[in-house]
Amino acid sequence: MKEQNGKKGFTLWFTGLSGAGKSTIADALAPILRDRGLKVERLDGDIVRKSLTKDLGFSMEDRKLNIERVTFVAKLLTRNGVAVLASFISPSIEVRNESRNEIGNFIEVFVKASLDACIERDVKGLYKKALAGEIKDFTGIHDTAPYEQPPTPELVLDTEKLSVEECIEKIIAKLEELQYL
Ligand SMILES: Nc1ncnc2c1ncn2[C@@H]1O[C@H](COP(=O)(O)OP(=O)(O)OP(=O)(O)O)[C@@H](O)[C@H]1O
Ligand SMILES: [Mg+2]
Repeated sequence: MKEQNGKKGFTLWFTGLSGAGKSTIADALAPILRDRGLKVERLDGDIVRKSLTKDLGFSMEDRKLNIERVTFVAKLLTRNGVAVLASFISPSIEVRNESRNEIGNFIEVFVKASLDACIERDVKGLYKKALAGEIKDFTGIHDTAPYEQPPTPELVLDTEKLSVEECIEKIIAKLEELQYL
């Protein structure tokens, strides 16, 4: 794997329910990794779905396509020494495993929070709409959109128990253990 300034590229793949804390943690982590001299790129569901994959919806098939396109980008960045922070619900074990195989230096981070906690947080007001039937195919709410927890992620971050700072400490420790830092 190509190294840049002595650093190996990798993709930290944050998966979890909407509102679990993927974007919050990845956004807070990015400047910390930059301060350590890494080249960092963020790939986030909300941004990607307004650009690269704005033509896609939330059927299982479209979700798979969304992740496949993002994976293509993450792979290019990773092999050029970039630290990629990818935050996507990415509900399918099979699709995430395809991303893992494609990207190579792949660190799966399960951002864990119960559905009840996510509904309580309702950061974007989407659970309210989904529960009122105004949105369909909402992950964790509708049978058409299950969330499959990773059976063997590199890291589990329980955001009901840990602060954002504690989550970041765990990620840094894992990156050091895996010799990416
Ligand atoms: N330890 C924690 N880590 C991350 N977020 C936390 C934590 N504790 C509480 N929160 C709160 O949980 C919410 C997480 O929202 P966030 O938008 O990051 O979720 P998300 O997983 O990116 O959801 P989506 O898939 O809809 O983009 C925020 O309001 C954040 O402040
Ligand atoms: Mg998010």
